[in-house]
Amino acid sequence: MTPMVSIRPGPSAAHNALRCAALRGKPLLNLPAWALRTRRSIATNAAVQETPVEYPSYPPGVPSVSIAPRRSLEERKKAVKNAKPFSEFLTDTFNRQHDYLRISITERCNLRCLYCMPEEGVPLSPPAHLLTTPEIFYLSSLFVSQGVNKIRLTGGEPTVRRDIVPLMQSIGSLRSKGLRELALTTNGISLHRKLDSMVEAGLTGVNLSLDTLDPFQFQIMTRRKGFEAVMKSIDRVLEMKKLGANIKLKVNCVVMRGLNEREIIPFVELGREKDIEVRFIEYMPFGGNKWSQGKMISFQEMLDIIRTKYPDLRKVPGHKNDTSKTYEVPGFVGKVGFITSMTNDFCGTCNRLRITGDGNLKVCLHGNAEVSLRDLLRKDNGGEPIDQEAFERIRQIEMDRRDGRLSDQTVLGWGQREKELLQVIGAAVKRKAEKHADIGDLENMENRPMILIGG
Ligand code: GTP
Ligand code: 5AD
Ligand code: SF4
Repeated sequence: MTPMVSIRPGPSAAHNALRCAALRGKPLLNLPAWALRTRRSIATNAAVQETPVEYPSYPPGVPSVSIAPRRSLEERKKAVKNAKPFSEFLTDTFNRQHDYLRISITERCNLRCLYCMPEEGVPLSPPAHLLTTPEIFYLSSLFVSQGVNKIRLTGGEPTVRRDIVPLMQSIGSLRSKGLRELALTTNGISLHRKLDSMVEAGLTGVNLSLDTLDPFQFQIMTRRKGFEAVMKSIDRVLEMKKLGANIKLKVNCVVMRGLNEREIIPFVELGREKDIEVRFIEYMPFGGNKWSQGKMISFQEMLDIIRTKYPDLRKVPGHKNDTSKTYEVPGFVGKVGFITSMTNDFCGTCNRLRITGDGNLKVCLHGNAEVSLRDLLRKDNGGEPIDQEAFERIRQIEMDRRDGRLSDQTVLGWGQREKELLQVIGAAVKRKAEKHADIGDLENMENRPMILIGG
C-alpha cells in the first residue's frame, strides 16, 4: 500500500493549479483533489487552511506526515520565539547561511551555446553515475530539513530529463517542510510543452536563457535552431501570469562583445510592456569556453550603453541574496538586472550550494572543490544507483532497526547514513572560501565546463 503524506499545499500552488486548468479549458473536476479542496479559499481570497489535504507521497513509502491546522497568532509568536537557529551544517565560517540549493538534473542539452560548451560537446558521465530521481528527492528532503527554502533545477537543460514533472511534483511536496520556492533555469526550447504541469507541481520561477532577439543570431550563439520555440515558452509564461499564475519570469542574457551587445537596448525595451526582468550577465570563464577579457562587456559598460538611450535608468532595491543588481526605466513594466560576477562580485551574500548531475556538492560556482554525496548515499546499496525499489528497501531496514519507529531527527529515517551525509556537507560548507578568485586567476583556473555545473 502506498502510504499517504498529508500536506496542506501553499496557496500559490493551489492557485496556480486552478489557473492552469482554466487556461487549458479543463473542467475544474479534472483538477487534483488538493486544488479542488482549496478552491473556495482561493475564490474568496482567504488563506488556505482548515482541512489538511491528502496528497500521495513520492517516492511511495515516505512515512505519513501530518500537518496541523493553521496556528493562532499566539502560537505563531511562540513558534518564532522557539525557532531553531539555522543549521550549523549549512552555515560557513563567514556566517553565510546557505538556504538556496541548485540541483543539476541532467548533463545533456538541446543547444550548444558558445559561452557554455565546446562545439563538440563534453564527455558525459555514464548513466549509472548520475543521480536517480529517488536520490535527488532524498537529497532535496535532507537539505530542506536543514533550512533550504529554495531549490532551483538546472542542467544541462533540465527539461530534457524525461521525468522532470514527477520529480518536480515530489520536490514540490516539500512545501509542507519549509520549501518556499521551486525554480527552473531553462533555455526554453521545450518549456512550453511542460510548463502547465510544472506549474501544477509547484513551480514558482522560471529563469530563461536568451541572448538574442534575432532568429539568425540565435542560431549563431546556440549553434542550433529554436528561437520560435523559446519565444513560445516566454509567451506561455506571460499568458499564465496574466491569468493569475504566480510565476516569476526572468530572462538571462549573457553579453559578449562582437556578438550581441547591440541587442542590449532591444532587450531593455522588452520590458516596456512585458512583465519581465531581463538580466544581463557578464561573460564568465569556464572549462572549454574560450573566454577572454576582451570578449567580456562589463557592468559599467552595459550601464553606459543603456543610459545613452535611457538616461533615467535608475537602481531599485533588491533582495539580500540576489545575484543581480536591479534597475528600472521609469514607465516600463519590466525590470533590468545585471549579474556582475566578474567586475563586482556578490560573494559576501552568497547563500547558494550546488549539486552536480553526478552527485557532487559544489560550494562555489567558481571553485573546483567538490565532494561526492552520491557515493556516500549509495554505500547502503553496494555502490549501485538507488532506484525506487532500493530506496524503499533501505528505508525499511532502517525503520526495522529502530523497531519501526521513525525518528523526528531524520528526514527519511536513514539514521546513520544521514548523519554521515550531514557531516560531509557541513565540512565542505566550512571550507568555502570568502570569495572567488580574481579575473586573471579565474581565467586560468581549472573548472568544469558550465554545462556540467548548471550555472
Ligand atoms: P534567482 O533565483 O532568480 O536570483 O536566479 P539565479 O541568478 O540564482 O539563477 P540563474 O540560474 O538564473 O543564474 C543566473 C546567472 O547567475 C548565471 O550566469 C549563474 O552562473 C550566475 N550565478 C548564480 N549563482 C551564482 C553564484 O553563486 N556565483 C556567481 N558568481 N554567479 C552565480
Ligand atoms: N558566463 C555567464 N553566464 C553563463 N551562463 C552559462 N554560461 C555562462 C558564462 N560562461 C548562464 C546561462 C544561464 C545561466 C545558468 O548561466 O545563460 O542562463
Ligand atoms: Fe545548453 Fe544552457 Fe549551456 Fe546553452 S547555456 S548550451 S542552453 S546548458
